[in-house]
Amino acid sequence: MARTPLLMGNWKMYKTVAEARAFAEELGQHSQALGTAVDYAICAPFTSLHVLRVMLPAQVKMGAQNVYPEKEGAFTGEISPLMLAEFGTQYVLAGHSERRTLFGESDQMVNHKVRAIVDAGMIPVLCVGENLSQKESGQTQAIVSGQVTQGIAGLSSDAVARAVIAYEPVWAIGSGKTATAEDAETVAREIRSVIAEHVDAAAANAVRILYGGSVKPDNIAGFIQQPNIDGALVGGASLKASSFVEMASAIG
Ligand code: G3H
Repeated sequence: MARTPLLMGNWKMYKTVAEARAFAEELGQHSQALGTAVDYAICAPFTSLHVLRVMLPAQVKMGAQNVYPEKEGAFTGEISPLMLAEFGTQYVLAGHSERRTLFGESDQMVNHKVRAIVDAGMIPVLCVGENLSQKESGQTQAIVSGQVTQGIAGLSSDAVARAVIAYEPVWAIGSGKTATAEDAETVAREIRSVIAEHVDAAAANAVRILYGGSVKPDNIAGFIQQPNIDGALVGGASLKASSFVEMASAIG
C-alpha cells in the first residue's frame, strides 16, 4: 500500500496565540495550494492548540510537541495523553533531540511516551538521530537503530504501521546544514530493515519516515523524491505560512 506523504511543522517554543491565529488565517487563504494526496500537520505549543483547532484549514491536523505518559496524577506542569486526544490532537512528537538533550529524556521515557500516545488513540512521531560526534565516529546506524528499537518496544505491528518516525540528524537541526538526500535515504532504508527485523515486514513497509533538519522550500523536494522518505519534519521554515505553502507545493 502506498504511504501518504506527510508535511509536519514543529513550531518549538515560538508563536503567541495571536501569532498562531495570524498564521492560520494566512494558511487558510492559500488552502487550495494544499494537495489532497498529502497529510499536513502543525505541532504547536499547547497554548496555541485551541486557536489552531478552530482556524486551521481542515486538511491540516494538529500535533503536540510533548506529553507526559501517565493518565492523570500529581505531575505538576504536565499534560496527559487524554487531555491532548480530547482536544483533537492527532500527532504527538516523542524523543525530539531537544527533549533528549535539554531535558534528559532517555530511550525508556521516550518509549513510555510513544506507548501512551498510541494507547490514547493518537499517532506518535518518534524522533531519532545521531549527533555530530556520533556521525564522525561512524555510529549513525547504531544510534538510530537503537533509538528506533527502544522507542517502539512493546507496540503492536498495527501501531508501528500507523506511527511516524522522523530521522533528524542532531547536527542538521537549526544549523542550515542538511544530510544529503542520499545519506538520509540510506538511514531511512535502514530504519525499515530494523523494523522488519524487530516487528514485521508489513509494519516496515507501512510506517512513514520523515527527514528533518534544516528543511526549506528549496531543498524539500530532494528528500521527498527518495523512495524511503515520506515527508519532512520542519522547524524554522514552518513558522511562516508562505513557506509552509511553498513546501506543500513542492511535495504535492
Ligand atoms: O522538529 C524539527 C527539527 O528540529 C528541525 O528543525 O527545520 O529548524 O532545522 P529545523
